[in-house]
Amino acid sequence: MCGIVGYLGNEEKKEILLDGLQELEYRGYDSAGIAVIEGEKLSNYKAIGKLENLREKTKNYSSENFGISIGHTRWATHGKPTELNAHPHLGAYSYVVHNGIIENYQELKKELQDDGVNFLSQTDTETIVHLFEKKHKTANSVFSAFEQTIERLDGAYATLLITEADVDTIYFAKNGSPMLIGFNGSDIHFASSDTPIIGKASEVYYLEDGEYGYAKQGELKLFDANGEKSFTKQPLTADKVSAQKDGYRFFMEKEIYEQHRVMSETMMGRVLDNSIDFDEIDKSFFDGIKAIKICACGTSYHSALASAYLFERIAKVRCDIEIASEFRYKEPLLSDDTLFITISQSGETADTLEALKMAKRAGLKSLSICNVDNSSIVRESDAAILTRAGIEKGVASTKAFATQTMVLWMLSLYMGQEKNSISKELLQTEIDAMLHTPKALLVTDDLHAKLHRLSKRYLHGHGFFFIGRDIFFPLALEGALKLKEISYMHAEGYPAGEMKHGPIALADSELFTIALMPKTMHYDKIKSNVEELSARDATICAISPLPFDLADDFIQTKYDSHPMLEFFEMMVVTQLLALEISVRLGNDVDMPRNLAKSVTVE
Ligand code: G6P
Repeated sequence: MCGIVGYLGNEEKKEILLDGLQELEYRGYDSAGIAVIEGEKLSNYKAIGKLENLREKTKNYSSENFGISIGHTRWATHGKPTELNAHPHLGAYSYVVHNGIIENYQELKKELQDDGVNFLSQTDTETIVHLFEKKHKTANSVFSAFEQTIERLDGAYATLLITEADVDTIYFAKNGSPMLIGFNGSDIHFASSDTPIIGKASEVYYLEDGEYGYAKQGELKLFDANGEKSFTKQPLTADKVSAQKDGYRFFMEKEIYEQHRVMSETMMGRVLDNSIDFDEIDKSFFDGIKAIKICACGTSYHSALASAYLFERIAKVRCDIEIASEFRYKEPLLSDDTLFITISQSGETADTLEALKMAKRAGLKSLSICNVDNSSIVRESDAAILTRAGIEKGVASTKAFATQTMVLWMLSLYMGQEKNSISKELLQTEIDAMLHTPKALLVTDDLHAKLHRLSKRYLHGHGFFFIGRDIFFPLALEGALKLKEISYMHAEGYPAGEMKHGPIALADSELFTIALMPKTMHYDKIKSNVEELSARDATICAISPLPFDLADDFIQTKYDSHPMLEFFEMMVVTQLLALEISVRLGNDVDMPRNLAKSVTVE
């Protein structure tokens, strides 16, 4: 993860770098730093913790003339979040920022230490700058030294380097971690995603793996293993929808409230009166497809799990779900009658991206479901369906999960429709329910107030079990993940019917059970499972449209005509519960400890 920005031009550089890093702070917020070379003058600032600390530290600094500059916001992988480990890393006369992991850094570090180089940090990144300066001693140009440096790097990197040996040039290289270049006249910007450059650049080029080069005097020189290459810039048309909190206390809260609105966008033009349509997929896309395999991580994995029930039940297609980091190393058996789907909010998650590349190498057709257009996963896939959730800033994902699940529900219907495995009547019933989804996602004042009140009773205890059956099991997993991400309390999602095979041993009054009890799906079965827990004195918080006598706390839901409407309404309840508990515990809801929104390391 980590976020990188770079800027070459005449504008004030500090503000450009800090504003860019602000947009990328979701990628990591353990520390941040900037380095600027203006004329012969080199300035460097670093601060641990959130970006505001760096803003404070640099408040009296500005750089008004032509210059080159780089910045970084860090999610620690090698070494603690200290100032010494913060980027940019300094050699004798050069600075480097990096996102990714240099896998052979220990070997390189040893080699450099044997040459007498003194390392200041514990990071893998610092090897890049020292290696560059070592190569520079013998190379015939700065660029050649840079080229020789990246030739030695194994692993994933997006890196920028500036040096006093060449004070008007930024050197860059990308392999496995995202980086793009924005253009505005002779000004050149670098960034890990397009959000920092929207509004600042009019054209963009998304770098491919293996590309590197330099920017100098408003010109960009691009190379890969075959030498210098030409490239085509794309217009950058996106509006600056710079996500503001709009009166909400947290981005996560705003994003929960937004779900009913963005869901209409997700469905727009796709859910028609009596059919489903995806412009992104042509009619022959599913020809020859007999099975689906979905790979994802975190919250996206949970939406995938829910969809497996839908693909098999509605589309009658076999569907397997895999955690991307497991899939990568299990030597999976893949056959080309399987459609490989990846799900990712960011489109940059390293494990998911690598899983996709593996599937492609095995000859599988690929489809991604993603929230970020032009992201690495979208570009790598044969086809992509965008979730249209808008920028999600809260590290704990909410609206991305809701819209992913909706796209997957639509896709299961679309496949059923195209393969004639679903009756017209069932298709119509599902579409009618779908059109009601935005209402089921509305947050009422009463509901939020109730969850605020209730949350004070759940600030202790030795753990939470979220339980559910069928599609409500993945929802239980997601509810538990939300709670642990932002409350730091132990929470597990479990299939309700499985509690008796072990976890029920934990039941006592300090075990909090959040029971998802939909009316339309196995109500009697889950009721028995919850009764078993109640008999062992577990504290029960039941979420259901049907009153439940044994509940210690009860949240009554309204939508009881279709499992998916119950799913979405209960999802909102679990999100708000996690939010309110986290607020009461005084945690940072939007940037919880140790996490990052986009995980571009494996
Ligand atoms: C990180 C985030 C999670 C997210 C996961 C997968 O761990 O903190 O919220 O679910 O990555 O991210 P993706 O962008 O691929 O959906």
